[in-house]
Amino acid sequence: MPRPICATINCAALSENLASVKQLLSRVQTEGQTPPKTWAVVKADAYGHTIEAAFVGFAAADGLALLDFEEAARARQLGWVKPILMLEGAFDRSDIPVAQAFGLTLVIHEARQLAWLAEVPLSEPLNVYLKMNTGMHRLGFEPGDYRDAFESLQGLARAGKVHEITHMTHFAYAERADGIEAPMARFVEAVEGLPGNWCVSNSAATLAHSAAFALRWAPAGITVWVRPGICLYGGSPLAKQNAADLGLRSAMTLRSELISIRQVRAGEGVGYGHTFVAPKDMRVGVVACGYADGYPRHAPTGTPVGIDGTHATLIGRVSMDMITVDLSDHPQAQVGDVVVLWGDGGPTADEVARCAGTISYELLTAVTPRVPRRFI
Ligand SMILES: Cc1ncc(COP(=O)(O)O)c(C=O)c1O
Repeated sequence: MPRPICATINCAALSENLASVKQLLSRVQTEGQTPPKTWAVVKADAYGHTIEAAFVGFAAADGLALLDFEEAARARQLGWVKPILMLEGAFDRSDIPVAQAFGLTLVIHEARQLAWLAEVPLSEPLNVYLKMNTGMHRLGFEPGDYRDAFESLQGLARAGKVHEITHMTHFAYAERADGIEAPMARFVEAVEGLPGNWCVSNSAATLAHSAAFALRWAPAGITVWVRPGICLYGGSPLAKQNAADLGLRSAMTLRSELISIRQVRAGEGVGYGHTFVAPKDMRVGVVACGYADGYPRHAPTGTPVGIDGTHATLIGRVSMDMITVDLSDHPQAQVGDVVVLWGDGGPTADEVARCAGTISYELLTAVTPRVPRRFI
């Protein structure tokens, strides 16, 4: 028998979250604006949910955005015919023919990527996203260099190598109340008068700033594309609003079972290092889930888990294959009972992440290959 741990991926929840985002976008749209289009961000194997689940759950998205050419090929092999955006573009000259073969849209964020496009022969022009650094200081052309890069791409368009050019940036702190003001001011100044659609918003910007964006920034006559990721999986990118407040549902439920229950007397330590010492006689459950499954090793005593629809708490150190939980308030719990580490019937991945000093993005993408995925 395999270990009882399993990550259940709910494809209907993926679809519902996408529908919620689309509904929000259509609500805030102003007179005369073209309806925004949505890239579902599915990098890192769809934030740990798998490209296969994303293919089903995000069927209504206008495109998939990712960065691994192997994942793009998988999406095409599954039958994804709509656009695929490569968020970091080509990593090497040899990626250009692959982009051509799979009909991929390439982000251009570096001068060498322009050179590769110029050098590599293409039978059909590629769509490209030109990326500007508006303050993240990670990828993208500086606003002052952006027009030159755009003109190079226009030259490549005249040479039959480039079809559509879309303007793109990525926000560093869109979760803040003033999250898009300064970067959008830089972006708008740099793209003023240049033809092309725009693509700027991640989950936080989409959820927190779409109304302001539609009113203040989006010009008429262009298509605005959004790039939500975490919210489509049911995670909240906003510190003050949880996923349920935002109308989002967890798409991944990580479940396991109690594989042992023991009585621990007051004063006895539990687990490696005895970092937890029982303050009273306690009933302690052992769950088949550890850091080798992707459960965060830094989750401290007190991190919630779900047992029988209510919360119990983790105690002591997370080990490679097991955690221990306090069953004091669960006298009915038995070996074999289901334990929800996060998702339906347990805490959200956001809650567990907060306890462990990380973000749900890390938890979802860290579930290891030894954990079987089940799709519903
Ligand atoms: C360029 C880009 N766009 C969009 C996203 C989606 O971000 P989020 O998951 O916060 O919505 C990411 C993810 O980090 C990204 O790197």
